[in-house]
Amino acid sequence: MDALSKTTFQKPNIQTYKMYLILQLLVIISAFISLEHGPITVYAKPYTSAVASVNKHTDGAKPLYSVQMLTTYINTMEYLPGNFLIDIDAPIIWHDCIVQENMYHGSCPPNTLCTSPVSCEESECSEVRTFYSYKNPSCPPEIDGYSSSRWGSCTCGVNVLNPMTSSCDQPLLNYDEFTLRTSDGRNVFSNGNYGTFPKAACAPSSSVASFPANVSGVMAFSSSLYAFPASSYPPLKRTFALCFPSKTSAPGVLFLGAGPYYLLPQSNVDVRSYLSYTPLLTRPDSFDTHPDSFGYFIRVNSILIKKRSISVPANATTKLSTMDPYTTLRTDIYNSVVRRFSMVTKRLRPAKPVAPFGLCFSTSTNGLRVPDIDFNLPDGKKWTISTANSIKQITSEVACLAFVDGGATSEPAIVIGTFQFEDNFLVFDLVNSTFGFSSSLLRKKTSCSNFNFTLTYNA
Ligand SMILES: *[C@@H]1O[C@H](CO)[C@@H](O)[C@H](O)[C@H]1NC(C)=O
Ligand SMILES: *[C@@H]1O[C@H](CO)[C@@H](O)[C@H](O)[C@H]1NC(C)=O
Ligand SMILES: *[C@@H]1O[C@H](CO)[C@@H](O)[C@H](O)[C@H]1NC(C)=O
Ligand SMILES: *[C@@H]1O[C@H](CO)[C@@H](O)[C@H](O)[C@H]1NC(C)=O
Repeated sequence: MDALSKTTFQKPNIQTYKMYLILQLLVIISAFISLEHGPITVYAKPYTSAVASVNKHTDGAKPLYSVQMLTTYINTMEYLPGNFLIDIDAPIIWHDCIVQENMYHGSCPPNTLCTSPVSCEESECSEVRTFYSYKNPSCPPEIDGYSSSRWGSCTCGVNVLNPMTSSCDQPLLNYDEFTLRTSDGRNVFSNGNYGTFPKAACAPSSSVASFPANVSGVMAFSSSLYAFPASSYPPLKRTFALCFPSKTSAPGVLFLGAGPYYLLPQSNVDVRSYLSYTPLLTRPDSFDTHPDSFGYFIRVNSILIKKRSISVPANATTKLSTMDPYTTLRTDIYNSVVRRFSMVTKRLRPAKPVAPFGLCFSTSTNGLRVPDIDFNLPDGKKWTISTANSIKQITSEVACLAFVDGGATSEPAIVIGTFQFEDNFLVFDLVNSTFGFSSSLLRKKTSCSNFNFTLTYNA
């Protein structure tokens, strides 16, 4: 389906890649040192981002989005693509793999991903267990795993929340490796990969049984030090951009790195020129009510529908979620939004509501157009939700306002979900704690499915 899955790479071994990483750092350091002595030519492949395709999955109860990265099948010594759920809230990366030492001696079972263990005696183990392990009364205490390893038999067990079953799973921490293609924001380079080496966790296949087909784990994109963005290294910054596709047939795109970013057909327009920015709040004022959250929050001051503003209480928090399919509003806010929205859509024929939605329309003809819903953010910034992101077509006859009543006490009061993300370009800049958003790219005559994934040689 995309360029990554068509190619495999010969992979010398992990050591070579770690060496490459060290060399790259040395090049950068020596470049700095040589500044005092005048310019010298430093050979470095000019890439500004690492890039991956994003697929939409509709085979489960709700749409989910995965990112495709390359992992290693140790026995065949080649990179193979793996799909991982994008979760901007999860503290730890975890996936279907086996923690096993001596993986170079053919001990890994066929078609299985084997990685080396983090011992329970390493400092990372207690760090992860203290700060990043899922804390919930339903979770048993973290248990040590056992494997034949040079550390003795003890490998580091952690707790994670399984987003599909909402249960507590107990994978084992490992030294992991995920590789992306490098890019200049416009093209994907066939040469020069970006290998990352986060500590992640391995769960048995049964833990991912309820995931969408071909999705084998959770790729954490939260602000946690054990999430994927934290494994970035120069020249890439701890910044990522998400662009979720609205269709299953054409992938969207994820970038690691601060940009530039380009989408066809305007291959000379940096998508950053479309963005507005607002502070990205991590563990906000309401820290007491979200002690475990590594997710992202923004401030919404009010919701504007056709010149009428619905104020959002000052203490109401707004969270961004890649696991919630629709924006959820606390009942008081939801009722005001629905009341106003039905008033401005009086000319449309109502239809019997289809759960989980409360306001639906009958659409004998396609091409329903409704007024924008604007999220008013601090400093006069505005995230505009236009028809493509506010109205969900349910059947050929019925379309619904894609907002959901979260209940009278729902906390956070507003959770912005994935239907509202589709074909919007979103930048999570963890260096400057800034959130960039484009509103609908369709209004700019492009979409998240318009990245050019064709491989080019970076000479
Ligand atoms: C899963 O992967 C297999 C093998 O690559 C492919 O044939 C199949 O179509 C994929 N299924 C889905 C739902 O993507
Ligand atoms: C927000 O403020 C209102 C009114 O001041 C108060 O009743 C409510 O408990 C507060 N909610 C939270 C989540 O702090
Ligand atoms: C952070 O802000 C600086 C200054 O505005 C900007 O140049 C940079 O691109 C921003 N993002 C990152 C990841 O450095
Ligand atoms: C996509 O990139 C390839 C490689 O650079 C280029 O040949 C092709 O023209 C691009 N496609 C479009 C539609 O611009």
